[in-house]
Amino acid sequence: MYQPISGFSKQSKEQKIDWLAKTYLKNSPEAKNIIKQYWNTDQKLQQLHDEFSENTISNYYLPFGIAPNFLINNKLFSIPMAIEESSVVAAASKAAKFWGTRGGFKTKIIDTLKVGQVHFSFVGDFDKLSSFFKKIQPKFQEAAKPITQNMEKRGGGIKSVQLKDKTNLLPDYYQLHCEFETVDSMGANFINSCLETFADVLEKEAQLYTDFSSEEKEIEIIMSILSNYVPECLVRAEVSCPLNEFSDTTTIPGKQLAEKFVRAVKIAEKEPYRAVTHNKGIMNGIDAVVLATGNDFRAIEAGAHAYASKNGKYSSLTHAEIDGENFKFSIEIPLALGTVGGLTGLHPLVKLALQILGNPSAKQLMEVVAVAGLAQNFAAIQSLITTGIQEGHMKMHLMNILNQYKATETEKKVLVNYYKNHVVSYSDVAIQLEKLRQ
Ligand code: MEV
Repeated sequence: MYQPISGFSKQSKEQKIDWLAKTYLKNSPEAKNIIKQYWNTDQKLQQLHDEFSENTISNYYLPFGIAPNFLINNKLFSIPMAIEESSVVAAASKAAKFWGTRGGFKTKIIDTLKVGQVHFSFVGDFDKLSSFFKKIQPKFQEAAKPITQNMEKRGGGIKSVQLKDKTNLLPDYYQLHCEFETVDSMGANFINSCLETFADVLEKEAQLYTDFSSEEKEIEIIMSILSNYVPECLVRAEVSCPLNEFSDTTTIPGKQLAEKFVRAVKIAEKEPYRAVTHNKGIMNGIDAVVLATGNDFRAIEAGAHAYASKNGKYSSLTHAEIDGENFKFSIEIPLALGTVGGLTGLHPLVKLALQILGNPSAKQLMEVVAVAGLAQNFAAIQSLITTGIQEGHMKMHLMNILNQYKATETEKKVLVNYYKNHVVSYSDVAIQLEKLRQ
């Protein structure tokens, strides 16, 4: 049995690695080398990365790829994507090329409001709480002035503070439900600081409110925190083309393929088992851009899936239809993103990714990210309803399989060529390698 360690965070990086190696890695020099092999030789850069988090001992790389040729609102973009899964960047690029010759992607920002809540308990008369809230409402803005001043200069700030009776959910449960505009920042720190100020005001003013009984004066703040559910920070992206232009490399006529496509999306709208995988494919594209641009993919994931359940049942985030002689495909997704603050000004690759995108505003980044999700879903469904996903996927995965079998550069060259006309599978790659090696 291992003993718990105390003071781990205070140890140096070397000490942490020594302890880990001794405790879990049989003190293997090889294991220590693996950890150190990912250190950056530029000490300043390494320190920067170490300080993003805590107890860091090394770096965990993700491939940083580019999907070029995205025509979005008549402007060309190359989209940076950080993702480890093979096929994703290739699929995005393929979809970009397809739609690039069919008018490209069109986008629209529906709204940019973000939400935060002060959750509190109040034991007493709601009418009195309501009057109290009306009386102290200006004090929320006033108390938060030192925090909101800069944000207001940039065009943002507090948009509303409402009192909500939630006693139908839990006894004595109320909220301050607050809306914010945070312009180009994701705004988590701004929102949470405002909320904690509101909570203070609420607690202190209740003590002074003479209409409250002594019990009513004891408002208990449970917590103050932003919500990652942002159905009003919403973007829409769409593509459309005449049915006869829908077919590309397949021999299936455009109309027939479009009908099959629409049916595949309808299945995801109705059937949660399929919807989850369908949306997972969308998130392949979305998360990759969100990560590359230094945004919080966990927040985006949580918000997107909540939105996918907004009608009480988990459903597809994309929708497709045939409208007369046209095929239409769209996504609507909440995306609380930032292009200033957080990692965006710190991480050199994030800065570069934003530069590649033309240093977008948060709204422009929302548009690009939504497009990446729609493109990814388009490519996945196209494969699923024609060749099946494995053909393309395994081709892209070939290099991973070859690396697993420790293929040499020459063997890789020969087999990449061979699999241009053959179906890739783990067992077949093993057989072909064996043949080459004999
Ligand atoms: C794999 O990462 C994503 C897909 O499963 C998405 C889908 O099925 O639509 C291919």
